[in-house]
Amino acid sequence: MSSNVVLNLIIAEAALELVPGEISRHASVRNDARRRDLEPSRILLDRSIHHAAMLRLKEDYKRGRPDLVHLTLLSITSTPLYQQAGAKVYIHTRDDLVLEFKEQTRPPKSYFRFRDLMQQTLYEKPGSGLITFHAESVPRLLSRIGSDPAIGLSVQGNPMKLEDLAIQLVGAKNPAVLVGGFPKGHFTPETTKALEKLVRIDANALDAHVVAARLVYETEKAVGHRSSSS
Ligand SMILES: C[S@@+](CC[C@H](N)C(=O)[O-])C[C@H]1O[C@@H](n2cnc3c(N)ncnc32)[C@H](O)[C@@H]1O
Repeated sequence: MSSNVVLNLIIAEAALELVPGEISRHASVRNDARRRDLEPSRILLDRSIHHAAMLRLKEDYKRGRPDLVHLTLLSITSTPLYQQAGAKVYIHTRDDLVLEFKEQTRPPKSYFRFRDLMQQTLYEKPGSGLITFHAESVPRLLSRIGSDPAIGLSVQGNPMKLEDLAIQLVGAKNPAVLVGGFPKGHFTPETTKALEKLVRIDANALDAHVVAARLVYETEKAVGHRSSSS
């Protein structure tokens, strides 16, 4: 684990992808691409624009929400823990592509700039720089970063106070926590199998950005308690 990092945060199975070939000829996609002077294969799938085309896609309800991924990313990267290099963030997409953010890297606050950056990154697949690209599944990502333990947050998990989870994480060697980067549905069995446990932090299903912000805040408090008692 790198020096200050107390938490690896993975926005998992994120609804972030380039328009898949099977709908690239649909009018809603072609019009959007033409308006932006780009090839359909270079634009992000976005339900707010490509809704009609997306109805043909498998698991369409879980896809095409880059706005939600952006909000979740900002709710992590705007925190003191992240800005002091105490958290590292990864976006894992449903296509098993991972975007790894170098510590303290700040993504654009403007959605349009974020969209353009993600389009470019998914297309160009950079091997170095502030955001690096890896083609890997959740189990492979967890094994590469050597997570210990790997915890998934899900309404399907066992109830636990987030405060107690944060204390456990701060006491762990190299913890990773997965928050689903999708609007509906659940982690796949492949993802779930790679985790030590699933934890439910509220009786209701919350938005991913709320869950991520609360997790980071409780982690900051747990780090504070650990430092003041040592
Ligand atoms: C909008 S939810 C996805 C919908 C899904 N039905 C769910 O809540 O698991 C996005 C993500 O937020 C996290 N999440 C939402 N509510 C949660 C809860 N009550 N407990 C733990 N995690 C939660 C999960 O990581 C979830 O994948």
